[in-house]
Amino acid sequence: MTQKNKTLGEFIIENQEEFKYSSGELSRLINSIRLAAKVVNHEVNKAGLVDILGAVGETNIQGENQQKLDVFANEAFIKTLTNREIVCGIASEEEDDFITITGRNERNENKYVVLIDPLDGSSNIDVNVSVGTIFSIYRRVTPSGEPVTLDDFLQPGNRQVAAGYIVYGTSTMIVYTTGHGVNGFTLNPAIGTYYLSHPNMTFPKTGRIYSVNEGNYVHFPQGIKDYIKYCQKEEGDRPYTSRYIGSLVSDFHRNMIKGGIYIYPNTAKDPNGKLRLLYECNPMAFLAEQAGGKASNGFERILDIQPTELHQRVPFICGSSSMVEKAEAFMQNTID
Ligand code: AHG
Ligand code: MN
Ligand code: MN
Repeated sequence: MTQKNKTLGEFIIENQEEFKYSSGELSRLINSIRLAAKVVNHEVNKAGLVDILGAVGETNIQGENQQKLDVFANEAFIKTLTNREIVCGIASEEEDDFITITGRNERNENKYVVLIDPLDGSSNIDVNVSVGTIFSIYRRVTPSGEPVTLDDFLQPGNRQVAAGYIVYGTSTMIVYTTGHGVNGFTLNPAIGTYYLSHPNMTFPKTGRIYSVNEGNYVHFPQGIKDYIKYCQKEEGDRPYTSRYIGSLVSDFHRNMIKGGIYIYPNTAKDPNGKLRLLYECNPMAFLAEQAGGKASNGFERILDIQPTELHQRVPFICGSSSMVEKAEAFMQNTID
């Protein structure tokens, strides 16, 4: 069989032995994410047709307005992951606390914890612009059979066993890594099958796109202001192009294909930035590094940060390695 018509299901089976602690469970876990993604995809695609748009009126723990599709995606992923006897705990951006999952025998014996941002870019739902889902998978650190604790979720990103995202774009794609590179699969909606469309995805070493919400410019740290000025300067291959969708998943996906940098810095108002370390930055950082890119908070590798709380935020600079290094040099004031 050629690479070209390989399905995600076939790919998972063929690559099972690559999983660090192979026993089939991680494959089944990826499979259940694939299934939940189809359900959410179906709902996202008909969002303009049914009365599903608009804020539910609830506010999540971060004080943000929840959209109906956020709630739907959250429930779809939690339900699918709960029913399969693989996951012992789930933490979601949309839930205040983590969820403990006991198997059929009432014991908390499963191996993996999953952390998800069920719907990323939710402000784009109402305007028919790409949104996504982000997931991150770890082995539990507490003994099997005992209830999961916060320690199982507060692991540094470098302990992830798999991570990925789904982008509900002009096509729907799953892009994921198990620590052996990054592969992308595109959904054929006519038959509900994902095909390997983007094998071995890699960030170009450098690029010409910078993605940042420049509306917040005056509040940015001096290093980021200086880097943005550098991007805009007429010199060599600059000025760069500015592209910002407002869905991390979509901005990252484009930058990985074309070469670029995504920045969500800290500001005076939000000293830790906006993005969440566990649901957004760690999985994207793992993917970035597996694709030859980099992810940093300006001073430190994202994957080496020891989390202290579930909904922790962190400044995020991610993308083509030489661009991230340049932005870090501006942040650290080591530019000559
Ligand atoms: P979410 O919809 O899960 O809350 O995430 C939105 C995030 C991220 O996807 C995006 O890049 C960023 O917030 C946009 O923030 P601004 O609107 O402040 O630029
Ligand atoms: Mn998000
Ligand atoms: Mn979200």
